[in-house]
Amino acid sequence: MNVKELKRLYLKFFEEKGHAIIPSASILPENDPTVLFISAGMHPLVPYLLGQPHPQGSRIADCQKCIRTTDIDEVGDSSHLTFIEMLGNWSIGDDYWKEEAITCSYEFLTSEKWLGFDPEKLSVTVFAGDDDAARDNESAEIWMSLGIPKERIYYLPKEDNWWGPAGTTGPCGPCTEMFIRIDDVPLCSPDCRPGCSCGAYFEIWNDVFMQYNKREDGIYEIMDRTNVDTGMGVERTVAMLQGKPTVYDIELFVPLMTKIKELSGKEEFNDDDIKLMRIVADHVRSAVMIMADDHKIAPSNIEHGYIVRRLLRKSIHSADRLGIGAGFLRDLAEIVISMYKEAYDEVERNRDFVMRNLDDEEAKFRKTLGKALRKFERILEENGTITGKDAFLLFTSFGLPLEMSRDLAEERGIDIDMAEFQTEFEHHRELSRTAAQGKFSGGLADHSEEITHLHTATHLLQAALRKVLGDSVTQNGSNITKERLRFDFTFDRKLTPDELKQVEEFVNDLIARDLPLTQQFMPLKEALERGALAFFKDTYGDEVSVYSVGDFSMEVCGGPHVERTGLLGRFKIKKQEKIGAGLVRIKAVLVTE
Ligand code: ALA
Repeated sequence: MNVKELKRLYLKFFEEKGHAIIPSASILPENDPTVLFISAGMHPLVPYLLGQPHPQGSRIADCQKCIRTTDIDEVGDSSHLTFIEMLGNWSIGDDYWKEEAITCSYEFLTSEKWLGFDPEKLSVTVFAGDDDAARDNESAEIWMSLGIPKERIYYLPKEDNWWGPAGTTGPCGPCTEMFIRIDDVPLCSPDCRPGCSCGAYFEIWNDVFMQYNKREDGIYEIMDRTNVDTGMGVERTVAMLQGKPTVYDIELFVPLMTKIKELSGKEEFNDDDIKLMRIVADHVRSAVMIMADDHKIAPSNIEHGYIVRRLLRKSIHSADRLGIGAGFLRDLAEIVISMYKEAYDEVERNRDFVMRNLDDEEAKFRKTLGKALRKFERILEENGTITGKDAFLLFTSFGLPLEMSRDLAEERGIDIDMAEFQTEFEHHRELSRTAAQGKFSGGLADHSEEITHLHTATHLLQAALRKVLGDSVTQNGSNITKERLRFDFTFDRKLTPDELKQVEEFVNDLIARDLPLTQQFMPLKEALERGALAFFKDTYGDEVSVYSVGDFSMEVCGGPHVERTGLLGRFKIKKQEKIGAGLVRIKAVLVTE
C-alpha cells in the first residue's frame, strides 16, 4: 500500500462512518499567535472544538499538512520528521466518544478490508491518571473488549498519554496511542514498552479524548462538551504497512535519498553519512512545503522565515559534508514539488517563489559559510572553547544558525557554556516570538499611535546611547508594546546614573527640536556606506528603506514613524539591567504632559 492509497482508504472509511471530508488548512495558524506552525490536524479546528458549530457538522475527517519544529533535533533516526501529513477524524461536541472512536480505530487498523494489520502486533497505551484527570480505565476496557490482552495495554503518565493543547492554551485531554511492535528490533530492556525510543515499537495513531481546556493560568478546566481528536502520521503508517524499517524507505523519500546519493558521488555510506542524508532530505522537504504554502514564507531571521532558514542552512552544511556541490536545493525541491503538487494545488502555484528563494538562500549562505566556519575554528583556537556569546556572534555576523554552532561544538566534544548559550538563545527566541506576535498584536505590523511613537523613540535612544557611550554600542534586540519600549544593546557594564541622565536628556533634546523624520530608499550597500545602522543585515532586500532624524540618526528600518520628533512627549528611562555578557537592556516610556 502506498501513501495515496492510505489517504484514500482513511478518508473513505470515515466518510462511510458519516464524516465530512475537508481539505488541509494552511501550514500556518490563522489565529494563534502562540505558535508558528500547525503541528497537528486538530489545530485549525480549535474554534469548533471550543464550541463554534462547524459548517459541515460534528463529524469531520481530513489529511492536514503539519510542521513539527520540536522534532528537529531527532531528525536522522528512523521515524522523526519535521514535515508530516496527518490523517485525523473528529467528533465535535459530544457526537461520539471513547467507545466509537476506539472501535473505529481498531476496525480500520486490523480489518482486512482496510489496513489489515495483525492484531497481535498491536499494543496500546492509556492515561494512568493524576491530579488533573482520572485514570482511563474506560479506554482500557474498550481495548480489552476488542481483544487486546491486558499485557499489551500500558498505563502511562501525562508525559506520554496526554495530548495538547496545540499552543499554550486550549482543548486537550488524555489519549490512547496505538503502536506496532517491530519484530526485527529486540526489546532494549525488560522495561521496554511502547513510547520507548529504542525503536521496538512504532507509534502510528493517537486518539485524544478532549474534555479539558487548559487556561492561561495553567489550570485544566473541564469543558462542558467532549471532543474526540485523532491523528495518524501518514509517513510512519505507510512505513509499517510496507514493512519498511524507517520512514526514509517509503516512496516519499526514496527519490530524494537516491538523488542525494547520486549527487554525493559516493559509493559507500557509513552511519554518519546516512544520518546526514536523512537530514538533507527531511529539511529540504519541510522548507519547500513551508515556502510553497500560500503565505509565501521566505528565509529570514525572524519567526517562520527563521525556521526555513535553519532548515535550509543545516541542509546546505550537511550536503557539503557529503561532498554535494552548489545547486542541489533546486534539484531536491523539484522532487518535492512533483511529489505534492497533485495533493496540494499551492505547491505548483508557488513553484517560482520557492525556486527563487532557494537559489538566493543557497548563494547567500555559501558566501558566508566558509567564513563562519573559519571564524568558528579561530575562536576555538584562541579561546579553547565556544561560548554562547560566540555562537550568537556567529549567527548575527555570519548567518550561522545557533543550532549549527551547537552541533559543530558537540562534534568536537566541546563543553559549550550552555547557560550562556541559553541566555543568548532565549533572548533571540524572544525576538522571534515577539516578531511572531507582532503579526497579530503590537510590533511592526501594528501601526497604532503608541507603537509608532515608541518605535521612533527607539531610534533616538540608540543615537543617544552612541553619543554618550561611544560607537561600540549596537542594537541587539528591540521589543515594543503599547506601554513601553525595550532596547538591548552591546555594552560591557551598566550605565552610571549620570550616563543614564545624559541619555535621557539627549533624547528629550531631540524631541524638543521637533526634527522631521525622513524616509529614503537606497541599496543596502549604499545605506551602510552612508553610515546607516542595520540590525539584521541579511534579511533586508536589495533596496532598503532608511529613516533619518536630522543628522542624528540613520537606520535601515521599515517604519512606522512619526513625522516629527516633537510629537513624542517626554522620554523617560524606567529601568536598566545587564542581561548577559556584554549586553544591557533598557526599558523606557513616553509620558505625555
Ligand atoms: N492531536 C493528536 C496528535 O497530534 C491527535 O497526536
